[in-house]
Amino acid sequence: MAERGRFISFEGGEGVGKTTQIGRLADFLRQRGIEVVVTREPGGTPVGEAIRDVLLDKALPAMHADTELMLMYGARAEHVHKLIRPALERGQWVLSDRFADASHVYQGAGRGLDPARIDALDAWVLQGFAPDRTILFDMPVAQGMARVRSRGDTDRFEEEKQAFFERIRQGYLRRAAQFAERFVVVDAAREMDEVTATLIETVKPWLN
Ligand code: TMP
Repeated sequence: MAERGRFISFEGGEGVGKTTQIGRLADFLRQRGIEVVVTREPGGTPVGEAIRDVLLDKALPAMHADTELMLMYGARAEHVHKLIRPALERGQWVLSDRFADASHVYQGAGRGLDPARIDALDAWVLQGFAPDRTILFDMPVAQGMARVRSRGDTDRFEEEKQAFFERIRQGYLRRAAQFAERFVVVDAAREMDEVTATLIETVKPWLN
Protein backbone atom coordinates (compact mmCIF):
# COMPACT_ATOMS: atom_id res chain seq x y z
CA MET A 1 0.00 0.00 0.00
CA ALA A 2 1.20 3.54 -0.79
CA GLU A 3 2.45 5.61 2.13
CA ARG A 4 -0.13 8.25 3.08
CA GLY A 5 0.44 11.60 1.36
CA ARG A 6 0.93 14.94 3.08
CA PHE A 7 -1.79 17.51 3.50
CA ILE A 8 -0.68 21.15 3.46
CA SER A 9 -3.05 24.12 3.69
CA PHE A 10 -2.24 27.70 2.74
CA GLU A 11 -3.84 30.62 4.52
CA GLY A 12 -3.71 34.40 4.67
CA GLY A 13 -5.61 37.54 3.83
CA GLU A 14 -6.53 38.73 0.35
CA GLY A 15 -3.85 39.38 -2.28
CA VAL A 16 -0.98 37.76 -0.36
CA GLY A 17 0.20 35.66 -3.34
CA LYS A 18 -0.90 32.21 -2.11
CA THR A 19 -2.06 30.91 -5.47
CA THR A 20 1.21 31.63 -7.28
CA GLN A 21 3.27 30.11 -4.48
CA ILE A 22 1.14 26.96 -4.31
CA GLY A 23 1.77 26.46 -8.04
CA ARG A 24 5.51 26.85 -7.55
CA LEU A 25 5.61 24.39 -4.65
CA ALA A 26 3.54 21.89 -6.67
CA ASP A 27 6.05 22.17 -9.57
CA PHE A 28 8.94 21.56 -7.16
CA LEU A 29 7.29 18.47 -5.66
CA ARG A 30 6.31 17.03 -9.05
CA GLN A 31 9.92 17.37 -10.21
CA ARG A 32 10.76 15.05 -7.33
CA GLY A 33 8.26 12.47 -8.52
CA ILE A 34 5.54 13.27 -5.99
CA GLU A 35 1.96 13.21 -7.21
CA VAL A 36 0.33 16.47 -6.14
CA VAL A 37 -3.32 17.52 -6.04
CA VAL A 38 -3.82 21.29 -5.95
CA THR A 39 -7.23 22.35 -4.67
CA ARG A 40 -9.03 25.20 -2.93
CA GLU A 41 -11.73 26.18 -0.46
CA PRO A 42 -14.48 26.93 -0.67
CA GLY A 43 -14.53 24.59 -3.67
CA GLY A 44 -12.40 21.72 -4.93
CA THR A 45 -15.32 19.44 -5.90
CA PRO A 46 -18.29 20.03 -8.24
CA VAL A 47 -20.65 20.48 -5.26
CA GLY A 48 -18.09 22.61 -3.42
CA GLU A 49 -17.59 24.87 -6.43
CA ALA A 50 -21.37 25.35 -6.71
CA ILE A 51 -21.45 26.33 -3.01
CA ARG A 52 -18.51 28.69 -3.67
CA ASP A 53 -20.52 30.48 -6.37
CA VAL A 54 -23.26 31.17 -3.82
CA LEU A 55 -20.76 32.30 -1.15
CA LEU A 56 -18.94 34.78 -3.38
CA ASP A 57 -21.95 36.12 -5.30
CA LYS A 58 -22.28 39.88 -4.84
CA ALA A 59 -25.73 39.89 -6.45
CA LEU A 60 -27.24 37.95 -3.49
CA PRO A 61 -28.39 39.85 -0.38
CA ALA A 62 -25.95 39.66 2.57
CA MET A 63 -26.32 36.24 4.23
CA HIS A 64 -26.41 35.55 7.97
CA ALA A 65 -22.97 34.66 9.36
CA ASP A 66 -24.33 31.25 10.51
CA THR A 67 -25.43 30.50 6.94
CA GLU A 68 -22.01 31.50 5.65
CA LEU A 69 -20.28 29.28 8.21
CA MET A 70 -22.41 26.25 7.41
CA LEU A 71 -22.00 26.65 3.67
CA MET A 72 -18.23 26.75 4.22
CA TYR A 73 -18.40 23.53 6.23
CA GLY A 74 -20.82 21.93 3.74
CA ALA A 75 -18.31 22.52 0.95
CA ARG A 76 -15.54 21.30 3.29
CA ALA A 77 -17.29 18.02 4.16
CA GLU A 78 -17.61 17.25 0.46
CA HIS A 79 -13.97 18.23 -0.09
CA VAL A 80 -12.62 16.01 2.70
CA HIS A 81 -14.75 12.95 1.89
CA LYS A 82 -14.58 13.06 -1.90
CA LEU A 83 -11.20 14.56 -2.67
CA ILE A 84 -8.71 15.12 0.17
CA ARG A 85 -8.87 11.82 2.09
CA PRO A 86 -9.01 9.59 -1.01
CA ALA A 87 -5.99 11.43 -2.50
CA LEU A 88 -3.97 11.09 0.74
CA GLU A 89 -4.81 7.40 0.92
CA ARG A 90 -3.54 6.94 -2.66
CA GLY A 91 -0.25 8.49 -1.48
CA GLN A 92 -0.77 11.83 -3.24
CA TRP A 93 0.04 15.11 -1.57
CA VAL A 94 -2.77 17.65 -1.25
CA LEU A 95 -2.06 21.39 -1.38
CA SER A 96 -5.20 23.32 -0.46
CA ASP A 97 -5.62 27.05 -0.95
CA ARG A 98 -7.40 27.57 2.41
CA PHE A 99 -8.96 25.03 4.79
CA ALA A 100 -10.74 25.10 8.17
CA ASP A 101 -8.53 27.81 9.74
CA ALA A 102 -10.17 30.23 7.27
CA SER A 103 -13.57 29.59 8.90
CA HIS A 104 -12.22 30.15 12.42
CA VAL A 105 -10.63 33.41 11.26
CA TYR A 106 -13.10 34.85 8.71
CA GLN A 107 -16.34 33.76 10.37
CA GLY A 108 -14.90 34.05 13.92
CA ALA A 109 -12.51 37.02 14.07
CA GLY A 110 -13.99 38.60 10.92
CA ARG A 111 -17.76 38.16 11.33
CA GLY A 112 -17.73 37.87 15.12
CA LEU A 113 -19.22 34.38 15.53
CA ASP A 114 -18.63 32.72 18.90
CA PRO A 115 -15.43 30.59 18.60
CA ALA A 116 -17.00 27.81 20.70
CA ARG A 117 -19.81 27.38 18.13
CA ILE A 118 -17.28 27.19 15.29
CA ASP A 119 -15.23 24.65 17.26
CA ALA A 120 -18.37 22.55 17.79
CA LEU A 121 -19.24 22.50 14.09
CA ASP A 122 -15.60 21.85 13.19
CA ALA A 123 -15.44 18.86 15.54
CA TRP A 124 -18.70 17.47 14.12
CA VAL A 125 -17.61 17.77 10.49
CA LEU A 126 -13.89 17.05 10.67
CA GLN A 127 -13.67 14.78 13.74
CA GLY A 128 -10.09 15.86 14.37
CA PHE A 129 -8.93 15.71 10.75
CA ALA A 130 -6.42 18.55 10.15
CA PRO A 131 -3.59 19.52 7.80
CA ASP A 132 -0.09 18.20 8.51
CA ARG A 133 1.19 21.76 7.96
CA THR A 134 -0.44 25.13 7.48
CA ILE A 135 1.51 27.89 5.77
CA LEU A 136 0.31 31.36 6.77
CA PHE A 137 1.18 34.10 4.28
CA ASP A 138 1.40 37.26 6.35
CA MET A 139 1.51 40.72 4.81
CA PRO A 140 0.36 44.26 5.74
CA VAL A 141 -3.33 44.61 4.82
CA ALA A 142 -2.84 47.67 2.60
CA GLN A 143 -0.30 45.82 0.44
CA GLY A 144 -2.58 42.82 -0.10
CA MET A 145 -5.59 45.00 -0.87
CA ALA A 146 -3.60 46.99 -3.44
CA ARG A 147 -2.87 43.71 -5.26
CA VAL A 148 -6.53 42.68 -5.13
CA ARG A 149 -7.62 46.02 -6.60
CA SER A 150 -5.04 45.82 -9.38
CA ARG A 151 -6.56 42.45 -10.41
CA GLY A 152 -9.89 44.16 -11.17
CA ASP A 153 -13.23 42.54 -10.33
CA THR A 154 -13.70 41.89 -6.60
CA ASP A 155 -15.85 39.18 -4.93
CA ARG A 156 -18.24 39.50 -1.95
CA PHE A 157 -15.43 39.14 0.63
CA GLU A 158 -13.01 41.48 -1.13
CA GLU A 159 -15.63 44.26 -0.86
CA GLU A 160 -15.15 44.30 2.94
CA LYS A 161 -13.55 47.28 4.67
CA GLN A 162 -9.97 47.66 5.92
CA ALA A 163 -10.99 47.02 9.57
CA PHE A 164 -12.38 43.58 8.59
CA PHE A 165 -9.06 42.61 6.99
CA GLU A 166 -7.10 43.88 9.99
CA ARG A 167 -9.18 41.51 12.14
CA ILE A 168 -8.43 38.72 9.66
CA ARG A 169 -4.68 39.35 9.81
CA GLN A 170 -4.61 39.43 13.62
CA GLY A 171 -6.94 36.41 13.79
CA TYR A 172 -4.58 34.35 11.65
CA LEU A 173 -1.53 35.39 13.69
CA ARG A 174 -3.32 34.40 16.91
CA ARG A 175 -4.31 31.05 15.43
CA ALA A 176 -0.73 30.45 14.27
CA ALA A 177 0.48 31.10 17.82
CA GLN A 178 -2.18 28.78 19.26
CA PHE A 179 -1.26 25.91 16.88
CA ALA A 180 2.43 26.72 16.61
CA GLU A 181 3.46 23.10 15.91
CA ARG A 182 1.27 22.98 12.77
CA PHE A 183 1.71 26.54 11.44
CA VAL A 184 4.61 28.10 9.56
CA VAL A 185 4.28 31.89 9.27
CA VAL A 186 5.84 33.27 6.10
CA ASP A 187 6.57 36.96 5.53
CA ALA A 188 4.79 37.26 2.18
CA ALA A 189 5.90 40.87 1.64
CA ARG A 190 9.35 39.64 0.51
CA GLU A 191 10.46 38.87 -3.05
CA MET A 192 8.49 35.99 -4.58
CA ASP A 193 11.61 33.80 -4.98
CA GLU A 194 12.46 34.20 -1.30
CA VAL A 195 8.95 33.13 -0.32
CA THR A 196 9.19 30.07 -2.60
CA ALA A 197 12.55 29.13 -1.04
CA THR A 198 10.96 29.24 2.44
CA LEU A 199 8.16 26.91 1.31
CA ILE A 200 10.67 24.43 -0.11
CA GLU A 201 12.64 24.45 3.16
CA THR A 202 9.40 23.68 4.99
CA VAL A 203 8.69 20.48 3.02
CA LYS A 204 12.32 19.26 2.73
CA PRO A 205 12.26 17.21 5.94
CA TRP A 206 9.49 15.11 4.36
CA LEU A 207 11.44 14.30 1.19
CA ASN A 208 13.50 11.14 0.91
P1 TMP B 1 -10.15 32.96 -1.94
O1 TMP B 1 -10.26 34.41 -2.27
O2 TMP B 1 -8.92 32.63 -1.18
O3 TMP B 1 -10.39 32.05 -3.11
O4 TMP B 1 -11.32 32.60 -0.89
C1 TMP B 1 -12.61 33.04 -1.07
C2 TMP B 1 -13.06 33.84 0.12
O5 TMP B 1 -13.73 33.01 1.05
C3 TMP B 1 -11.94 34.56 0.86
O6 TMP B 1 -12.32 35.92 0.98
C4 TMP B 1 -11.95 33.92 2.22
C5 TMP B 1 -13.35 33.36 2.37
N1 TMP B 1 -13.44 32.16 3.21
C6 TMP B 1 -14.15 32.25 4.41
O7 TMP B 1 -14.67 33.29 4.75
N2 TMP B 1 -14.25 31.13 5.20
C7 TMP B 1 -13.72 29.92 4.83
O8 TMP B 1 -13.85 28.93 5.56
C8 TMP B 1 -13.00 29.85 3.57
C9 TMP B 1 -12.41 28.55 3.13
C10 TMP B 1 -12.89 30.99 2.80
